[in-house]
Amino acid sequence: MMEQFIAGLPKCELHVHIEGTLEPELKLTLAERNEVPLPYTSIEEVRAAYDFDSLPSFLTRYYEGVRVLLKEADFHELAMGYLRRAAAQNVRYAEIFFDPQAHTSRGVPFDIVVRGLRRALLDAERTLGVRAQLIMCFLRDLPAEYAMATLLESLPYREWIIGVGLDSDERGNPPVKFAEVFARARQEGYLLTAHCDVDQENSVEHIRQCLDVIGVDRIDHGVNALEDPGLVEEIRRRGLGLTVCPVSNGFVTGDRKTDAIRRMLDERLRVTVNSDDPAYFFAYMTENLEVVHAALDLTADELVRLERNAFEVAWLPRLLKDARLDELD
Ligand code: ADE
Ligand code: ZN
Repeated sequence: MMEQFIAGLPKCELHVHIEGTLEPELKLTLAERNEVPLPYTSIEEVRAAYDFDSLPSFLTRYYEGVRVLLKEADFHELAMGYLRRAAAQNVRYAEIFFDPQAHTSRGVPFDIVVRGLRRALLDAERTLGVRAQLIMCFLRDLPAEYAMATLLESLPYREWIIGVGLDSDERGNPPVKFAEVFARARQEGYLLTAHCDVDQENSVEHIRQCLDVIGVDRIDHGVNALEDPGLVEEIRRRGLGLTVCPVSNGFVTGDRKTDAIRRMLDERLRVTVNSDDPAYFFAYMTENLEVVHAALDLTADELVRLERNAFEVAWLPRLLKDARLDELD
């Protein structure tokens, strides 16, 4: 009964890495097509290697996987695959992260990455009726200078990218490391978000930096904000969205942190539920919502609330937001 309700719910995904939607099958197909050697020969072998116990152990497999992406057609196929799955789960709108430095660092031109993804977004809107926008993430474990160079490289494509984010290994890489990059991104008209991954060293301090130094428009994960009443109050006052990813949390910390979602709902924070890297964690939007429902016994109103929150904090013009919010009435 509630399963059907969740399946049919109009959904909004705000935290998904396109490189994290690379399914084992496409990984093997592209490895063969592009003659990129991988240490796996079957889907089962690829899957068996997904035994993460931390963010770095996940990131090792994630960066191993991106090596098969070389051509514009590869990026198009990757994004079409995600958007097809999303549309099948009634995702009506998605904001999709991409990691240009995971590709430019291997010699794949920025232009190839962004054109392939952009073309998929246009095709998906036309053929699947799902709308999506791109958020460019900087890899925080690489130097700030490389992030700045990437920002400058993106400027000719400014109209195709709605905002910038910050991801990869958080340990020792606080938001302030990228203060200048984010300030310039803001000047260029980009909206700003940043990962504050779950249970990192100095999580609370990193979230505080996002608010006071970076001036983010959203926080990715941000679960540890609950440890500091001052942060909770400030996030609520600013109406910032929090993009929480329960199944991902389970893989990287051993705890899905669903209690945090309950608390955020009770605190009237704009919490949202998302998939993060669905091909690596075996869970897209519907499965993430099911996990939260199973843990918290959410009411239909609370499930609708999660999707309303997502559409409310989405980086869409008011008119387009309202069109989607109407579907949840
Ligand atoms: N890059 C892709 N997925 C990520 C995650 N869950 N955290 C940080 N960086 C990422
Ligand atoms: Zn993420």
